[in-house]
Amino acid sequence: REQIDLAVIEGDGIGPEVIAEARKVLRAALPEGVTLNETEYPFGANHYLATGEILDDASLDQLAKHDAILLGAVGGDPADPKLAGGILERGLLLKLRFAFDHYINLRPSKLWPSAISPLANPGEIDFVVVREGTEGLYVGNGGVVRAGTEHEVANELSVNTARGVERTVRYAFELAMTRDRRLTLVHKKNVLVNAGVLWNRIVNEVAEEYPEVAVDYLHIDAATIFFVTNPSRFDVIVTDNIFGDIITDLAGAVTGGIGLAASGNLNPEGAFPSMFEPVHGSAPDIAGTGKADPTAAILSVALLLQHFGFDDAAKRVEAACEQDLRNRSGEARSTSEIGDAIAALLA
Ligand code: NAD
Ligand code: IPM
Ligand code: MN
Repeated sequence: REQIDLAVIEGDGIGPEVIAEARKVLRAALPEGVTLNETEYPFGANHYLATGEILDDASLDQLAKHDAILLGAVGGDPADPKLAGGILERGLLLKLRFAFDHYINLRPSKLWPSAISPLANPGEIDFVVVREGTEGLYVGNGGVVRAGTEHEVANELSVNTARGVERTVRYAFELAMTRDRRLTLVHKKNVLVNAGVLWNRIVNEVAEEYPEVAVDYLHIDAATIFFVTNPSRFDVIVTDNIFGDIITDLAGAVTGGIGLAASGNLNPEGAFPSMFEPVHGSAPDIAGTGKADPTAAILSVALLLQHFGFDDAAKRVEAACEQDLRNRSGEARSTSEIGDAIAALLA
């Protein structure tokens, strides 16, 4: 590949702040002879409030033509009633994940040497959460009956298809084969028996094709214990959409903070552009202060480079982030100071 045609959606809050740094680093990391075409799309809270538009079909068609999407964060002022009900999160972020069949939400967690974990004895932490990205509780299946009455019932139905689970599980096994060959299914099969049994059965079936991979199972509640007491026990974790959402914020926290946690929303077959974004959100509490750590967005650029097979460039970005973490001496640096430092380390 000699060119990357990238769509950039900065989004809201700290989104534009961290994406500016991610783009700096991406440009600095690009292998010789590869050109980068960047197209900015204005989607997010301000665009919606000004135009009434979240993400129309014509724009979706435009986005589909790019090789990949780099996204900051979605979610405007939480106090604004016009943005209530997750209208942007569902209408923009989840719409993209579903429209572009991002069935793998890949979220690596690594305690970089000299990153500071809040755990007393973190040990070595290096695992990847393979979060299913297009099903589960996120499909918007459900509704409210007898709204506003004392008999109101609010339902969200978790959708788990054999195909959707199997393709995710297969991806996780393939990934495990490139790593330490340990795979943990995280679910809640003791209570969510329908979906839990399906996930468990498919993991066991696919496991027969991967005898080298050691497979185990944890209920989601117990899994949260081990994230804190023994995170080294994890290599590849495969789980559904909601559990994957929750444990990846926890994983970010134990590996040095959510400001370091990267993610890729992948359509592995390449039928649609994959999308790369930090795990964190728009952080309205620190937006505009320069306190946002852009490392999560920058490490998401490393995932993007890896996705296109630019493994050396991806490793260089990771190494620069690692070196920058080593160089941190405790004094506060701004978002752009961190981005500049990482870009300089690459040069
Ligand atoms: P959040 O991730 O935005 O913030 C949680 C906490 O982490 C805050 O204290 C914030 O200051 C801190 N934080 C986040 N990113 C940081 C960074 N790079 N450096 C330093 N500190 C950082 O989660 P939230 O407050 O629950 O959500 C805020 C908004 O973002 C909501 O509208 C939510 O729906 C949206 N959201 C969007 C995405 C996304 O676009 N992928 C992800 C999560 C949340
Ligand atoms: C994330 C976010 C999203 C999710 C929200 C904003 C829809 O929390 O990317 O982790 O739940 O997937
Ligand atoms: Mn989340």
